[in-house]
Amino acid sequence: MSSITNSTVVPGCQFASDNTSGACPEALAALIEANAGSQASYGNDRYTSVVADRLRELFAADCEVFFVFNGTAANSLAISTCCQPYHSVICADVAHLETDECGGPEFFSGGAKLLLANSLHGKIDVESVEELVTRRTDIHYPKPHVLSITQSTEMGTVYSLAELAQLGATAKRLGLRVHMDGARFANAVASLDVSPGEIVRAAHVDVLCFGGAKMGLPVGEAVLFFDRRLAADFAYRCKQAGQLASKMRFLTAPWLGLLAEGAWLRHARQSNAMAAKLAAGFNETTGVELLHPIDANAVFAVLPEKVHQYLAKRGWRYYTFIGQGSARFMCSWTTTAAEVDALLGDVRTALNAG
Ligand SMILES: Cc1ncc(COP(=O)(O)O)c(C=O)c1O
Repeated sequence: MSSITNSTVVPGCQFASDNTSGACPEALAALIEANAGSQASYGNDRYTSVVADRLRELFAADCEVFFVFNGTAANSLAISTCCQPYHSVICADVAHLETDECGGPEFFSGGAKLLLANSLHGKIDVESVEELVTRRTDIHYPKPHVLSITQSTEMGTVYSLAELAQLGATAKRLGLRVHMDGARFANAVASLDVSPGEIVRAAHVDVLCFGGAKMGLPVGEAVLFFDRRLAADFAYRCKQAGQLASKMRFLTAPWLGLLAEGAWLRHARQSNAMAAKLAAGFNETTGVELLHPIDANAVFAVLPEKVHQYLAKRGWRYYTFIGQGSARFMCSWTTTAAEVDALLGDVRTALNAG
């Protein structure tokens, strides 16, 4: 019997998404604590303003802070505050905004159009931004008004501060607002080993959607307006979109646990480390090809079909929707070295089978 057959494969959705993991103990403890007694509703509780202050401290910025249920709402509503219906938003051709939000940004902005910039490994090509903005100046073209940057990217890469500075400076020179989709912002902070504020300042970010769920919260994302003027009517947008939680304390109190003593960064480092370990294992395995640099918590690889079949039989879960025979393995704060080793073992068994 091979050691692989003996290995313990945990049933479930191990590498499908960082959304498939549970809430981290720090967030849960804060949630339970916030359950005691009655509290004012709609964000007027004793937790929400404290979390907003903690986030201001974390970013060393006097930003406006809001909380919504998910990333699509965060992005769509943030974009809607930056745009008129006749504006356009430049994002990467692989951006979540374009591929996975069901037209939310266009819907909530009342018609703003997404213009797709070329990307390499998920990173926007700065020349493509310039070309999209300067291509036309006539009234028939949706007026470019926002640049949306995903950090870390959908392909598991992370923009360096220099790359962000170049994009941010280009956006400002061209008169664009900067939105950052930070569903995996924590993984970028862990990867770059810089402060959160350094990232937003390098890119001249006006509004950041700071992902909570992938970081270890049970639910929820924060929207941070570094240009406070953009936040003027944001509360109304949240309410109209069904994103104002009546029992807001349950959306916000878990942030306290996550932010205290750097749990958020510890968890992000863990998921990044597991992706690095998986990638190193794939690199040593003939027959597996990595598709993108591994900067954060995602590993994209091309595997032979027989490997996919064997992994499916063994109960492994990951996404295979990106290109023929390719796979995305997403690590989360719960991913363990034993899981990574077991997966690598099964990949090698499948490759060595006749
Ligand atoms: C890059 C990116 N942005 C935003 C989101 C948030 O999406 P959701 O609406 O599912 O919370 C995700 C989730 O997978 C994502 O990968």
